Amino acid sequence: MEHELGTIRKEALAAIQAAADTDTIEEIRIKYLGRKGALTLILRSLGNIPPEERARMGKLSNQYKNEIETAIETRTDELTREGADSLIRGQWIDVTLDCVPPVPREGLGRLHPISRIQYEIEDIFTSMGFEIHDGPETETDHYNFEALNIPKHHPARDMQDTFWTEDGNLLRTHTSAIQVRAMEKVKPPFRVVGPGRVFRYESTDASHENTFYQVEGMMVDREITVAHLIYVMKELLKEIFQRDVSVRLRPGYFPFVEPGFELDINCLICGGNGCSVCKQSGWVELLPCGLVHPNVLRMGGIDPGQWSGFAFGLGLNRLVMMKYGINDIRHFLSGDIRFLKQF
Ligand code: DAH
Repeated sequence: MEHELGTIRKEALAAIQAAADTDTIEEIRIKYLGRKGALTLILRSLGNIPPEERARMGKLSNQYKNEIETAIETRTDELTREGADSLIRGQWIDVTLDCVPPVPREGLGRLHPISRIQYEIEDIFTSMGFEIHDGPETETDHYNFEALNIPKHHPARDMQDTFWTEDGNLLRTHTSAIQVRAMEKVKPPFRVVGPGRVFRYESTDASHENTFYQVEGMMVDREITVAHLIYVMKELLKEIFQRDVSVRLRPGYFPFVEPGFELDINCLICGGNGCSVCKQSGWVELLPCGLVHPNVLRMGGIDPGQWSGFAFGLGLNRLVMMKYGINDIRHFLSGDIRFLKQF
């Protein structure tokens, strides 16, 4: 029996060492240690041998069994590791390749300052539960004017002259058209912001451009008041300028809000003491806003008896100019790489 055990041990260990995959290992395990395995049968037959032999053979069988088990474990580990290594070698993907281009960093483009502030503002509003909506740059008269309580021949149209297409559409003069589209898409209560490019038929100078960027915002819920408007605006400005800003509201007229306001912030250059930027007033005009006019809600399919809202229109060019101290709006679309490289 001792000889038989020795042979089993030798054969088993050699087979384990030679195994090239884990399936073969499993076959070897069954062959020697399975229910009808060679070693198992010997262990079971120990009862038939004389007692003086039994103890010694039992000890030997168990020792060989442990040895075989350990060898199986070790070889299985080796095979698994080899398998993983060859998988990694064979299917190697360099996920960092995009970030480490073979060209000098200088060759990479960068985000335009308007895009940067737009994405920053989108993040701030998203964190306050606002959805981001979009709309076309070529709009119909309905979305740009009519549905915003600006009927044909309304004098407010004169302030927003634009480029008309031959089929009677126009390049949108403001992102307020997005609030009309939003009211068609979502049911109250809702909060939306709509960033985008807008156009005016303007003669250009340091503070006027025919193409610029805005973010429209609108929140509709039960009993929305000016307090909600001020809170959201202050949160926004705190994030953008990274400090607390004071705001004040002055009356302002826009047909789609009632009451309408101009929101000013305390001059961040002089801290409100008065300087040339704020024309010694301590305040800088920042954005128009107001409570949504009932006619606008009604035309958007919302019952003004049940719901109310605020809206605002944020000029992105102006904001970037204030943030970085840029003194001419025409830089934005100039395509001058020296300007763009600064951001
Ligand atoms: N759409 C206006 C403009 O471009 C700005 C504006 C004013 C938007 C008041 C608003 C608002 O939502 O409530 O001149």
